[in-house]
Amino acid sequence: MIFYFSGTGNSRWVARTLADRMGDRACDLIGLDPIPDLQGESRVGLVFPVYAWGVPGVVAEFAARLPKTDAFTFGVGTCGAEAGLALKQLARVFPLDSSYSLVMPSNYILAEDVEGDSQIRQKLADASWRMDRMAEEIKARKKVYQVKEGPAAWLKSSLIHTGFDRFARNTRPFRADDRCNGCGQCARDCPAGTITLTDGKPVWGKECYQCLHCLNACPQQAIQYGKGTEKRGRYTIEKYLE
Ligand SMILES: Cc1cc2nc3c(=O)[nH]c(=O)nc-3n(C[C@H](O)[C@H](O)[C@H](O)COP(=O)(O)O)c2cc1C
Repeated sequence: MIFYFSGTGNSRWVARTLADRMGDRACDLIGLDPIPDLQGESRVGLVFPVYAWGVPGVVAEFAARLPKTDAFTFGVGTCGAEAGLALKQLARVFPLDSSYSLVMPSNYILAEDVEGDSQIRQKLADASWRMDRMAEEIKARKKVYQVKEGPAAWLKSSLIHTGFDRFARNTRPFRADDRCNGCGQCARDCPAGTITLTDGKPVWGKECYQCLHCLNACPQQAIQYGKGTEKRGRYTIEKYLE
């Protein structure tokens, strides 16, 4: 069984691809209640996007609720470049036999523009190739720690990650511009269920995972975060899987 959390589709694709190659099942962890009984599972995996060199809170909370298991356990942190100590953080709440980071296209358009088309396609091709090997290792129950931590990992995963959790998940800068046609897709698809429509326009509540699904997936490109995203592109994996 492979549980995943995903904002823009990378981690969902990784979880489903690994499940496919190992004859396993992939399951979205959002709203999964009760937690499935893991008895009889030979493998239990968690696939998630790395946020500020750490584990998204929603993933850590879910992992902490998983029952103890004799299954082979593994974690995969998808990231644009480097994962810091995210997998070690996860292993503290859910012991992992194997840990991987997997470089994928970055969806973090608050800091920089989306990558070019050819770079995105190259990253996806490399990830697909690497997953062949990962699936073989996991099936063979081989214990590995293959994580690109990057420089100053401790500092990034502790101080910066804590700062991200406390302050950066602020929803106040979200807004819909004139292109919003009130379709409501953002509200329907928000994993945190934080968006409601008022007078046909999205309004953000306080609880937000900062997954950036709303920003990246709006069909009108009408959602902005402050001013910085106005001239930037948008990324979701769907367009590249056709
Ligand atoms: C809030 C946030 C923080 C991120 N922090 C990092 C990071 O620390 N390191 C990194 O390489 N990528 C980072 N990224 C990029 C994502 O981890 C990466 O694009 C991931 O594959 C997205 O997965 P998803 O499509 O399943 O949501 C961040 C993205 C978001 C939205």
